[in-house]
Amino acid sequence: MTFPRIPGHEVAATIVEANKALPHLAVGLTVALSPYMNCERCAACLRGRPNACQFNQTLGVQRDGALTEFIVVPPKNIYPANLSVKELCIVEPLTVGFHAVARGRITADDTVAIFGCGGVGLGAVAASGFRGARTIGVDVDDEKLRIARAAGATHTIHTGKEPLHERLLEFTNGRGPDVVIEAIGLPQTFRSAVEEVAFSGRVVYIGYAKEPVTYETRLFVQKELDILGSRNALADDFLAVIRMLEEHRFPVDGAVSSIITLDEAPQALRAWSDDPSRVKKIMVRLD
Ligand SMILES: NC(=O)c1ccc[n+]([C@@H]2O[C@H](COP(=O)([O-])OP(=O)(O)OC[C@H]3O[C@@H](n4cnc5c(N)ncnc54)[C@H](O)[C@@H]3O)[C@@H](O)[C@H]2O)c1
Ligand SMILES: [Zn+2]
Repeated sequence: MTFPRIPGHEVAATIVEANKALPHLAVGLTVALSPYMNCERCAACLRGRPNACQFNQTLGVQRDGALTEFIVVPPKNIYPANLSVKELCIVEPLTVGFHAVARGRITADDTVAIFGCGGVGLGAVAASGFRGARTIGVDVDDEKLRIARAAGATHTIHTGKEPLHERLLEFTNGRGPDVVIEAIGLPQTFRSAVEEVAFSGRVVYIGYAKEPVTYETRLFVQKELDILGSRNALADDFLAVIRMLEEHRFPVDGAVSSIITLDEAPQALRAWSDDPSRVKKIMVRLD
């Protein structure tokens, strides 16, 4: 991203001015926003996959975001829902994991291991559980694993204390998980996804590895793997997250650690930067 930039891409908003031709988006409605803007001309857009737009601009990243009193967005980016402001704010972060689960074609017949139960991995845990799959959350932090269980993980593995390989074999009758979702972004967990997944399984990468990764590519072929990238989210993912939240199937309170005013934001951001592990999400109210 480039600076200066107004942040804000996980957004709840109230409609104050509407297009009369779109009665389902009326003044006064409280809604969630999709922060993704696509070009409508690149190969991904033409294939109906605007989430992977070559020229994607996300609010708060490549263009100014929503941490401001008023914002104008196209109707297709607006999602009305029967949810509280706090719930609406966590729709977008959960969609990224929901998209990865859709990419992995996960069903109730699958056992799924999710590497990393941070902000993004937690959405994948919730989506996998929501689809009825046996869901194994993997992390190095007890608190993250506790929230993963509350969000739908049937099993958890703390790889700082337990051997990953042996535990995964134990949970899967010696076969390995049908699907591994990587939501950390480290070379070793990128490799481990391919090593641990079952023969003929699927690997979905959400994490951005910050350096090149070396692979034993023989495993791609021998296991006949589907190796998939997963970026941002599609409209269907927003609708699926909203459905889950409306059914109260996600521990919303555990995901947001504080609610502050805009005036309190500089101090709160500094405290977050000084001690990231103590903060989950900080919600900034502008009303
Ligand atoms: N594809 C996309 O559209 C997209 C969108 C947002 C973020 N991302 C990427 O997803 C990744 C995760 O993002 P996040 O916001 O959830 O980060 P995060 O820091 O909140 O979560 C990472 C989690 O991984 C755990 N972890 C770290 N090292 C580990 C290890 N060796 N073994 C097991 N667990 C480990 C941490 O304890 C933490 O819970 C990042 O690489 C980020 O860049 C991708
Ligand atoms: Zn495009």
